[in-house]
Amino acid sequence: MARNGLLITFEGLEGSGKSTQIERSCEYLKDKEHDILFLREPGGVPLSEKIRDILLDVGNTDMTHECEMLLYMAARAQLVREKIIPALENGQTVICDRFLDSTLAYQGYGHDMNVEFIKDLGEFVTEDVSPDLTIIFDIDPAKGLGRIKGVKDRIEQRDLDYHARVQEGYHDIARQNPQRVKVIESDRTIEEVFERVRQYIDDVLGNA
Ligand SMILES: Nc1ncnc2c1ncn2[C@@H]1O[C@H](COP(=O)(O)OP(=O)(O)OP(=O)(O)O)[C@@H](O)[C@H]1O
Ligand SMILES: [Mg+2]
Repeated sequence: MARNGLLITFEGLEGSGKSTQIERSCEYLKDKEHDILFLREPGGVPLSEKIRDILLDVGNTDMTHECEMLLYMAARAQLVREKIIPALENGQTVICDRFLDSTLAYQGYGHDMNVEFIKDLGEFVTEDVSPDLTIIFDIDPAKGLGRIKGVKDRIEQRDLDYHARVQEGYHDIARQNPQRVKVIESDRTIEEVFERVRQYIDDVLGNA
């Protein structure tokens, strides 16, 4: 079956404003009569939410980088088949809070793992589902982490050097995929950031 729906993914460091801008984007698209499915990664379906709990549990101090990468991929494999592909076949607009680019940035670049291998595995895991638009919110790692309230999860607890490598990874991903991936400097007001988000969404709707 044809995958006629749109997939838009939101990426960026912790506290960069993904959730804030997703909420606005969903409202904007609903006003335009889009049938929206909002999902988050890791998670989005019960099995993947269980994997999320394992991944973010601060008690799992002994998790290897390989195990971590594969658990993110396993959660994604389930989400893609259970929700994303059927939704795209139904013509829905799928909004996803993080997707494969997060694994490339956090595990590939962050842990200095083999990025090309992760890309190949990603093709298998996603059945070649690729976003129509990916927006990366770019923020200084310290500033983003400073915005987070409450207890930090296993990934958020990592040091600034780790998050700086993740940010560099996002920059590389954007350079390598200029058509699909757009970067927005998110050290601006929520309104200013959304204005740019809206423009990119309008562009992809125009091209869809
Ligand atoms: N442009 C902005 N300027 C100042 N504060 C912001 C801005 N955007 C979001 N915030 C605030 O920063 C905090 C983090 O934002 P948000 O939850 O949207 O980020 P996130 O990228 O989803 O983070 P996480 O990765 O932890 O889910 C929230 O308290 C939010 O209100
Ligand atoms: Mg969020």
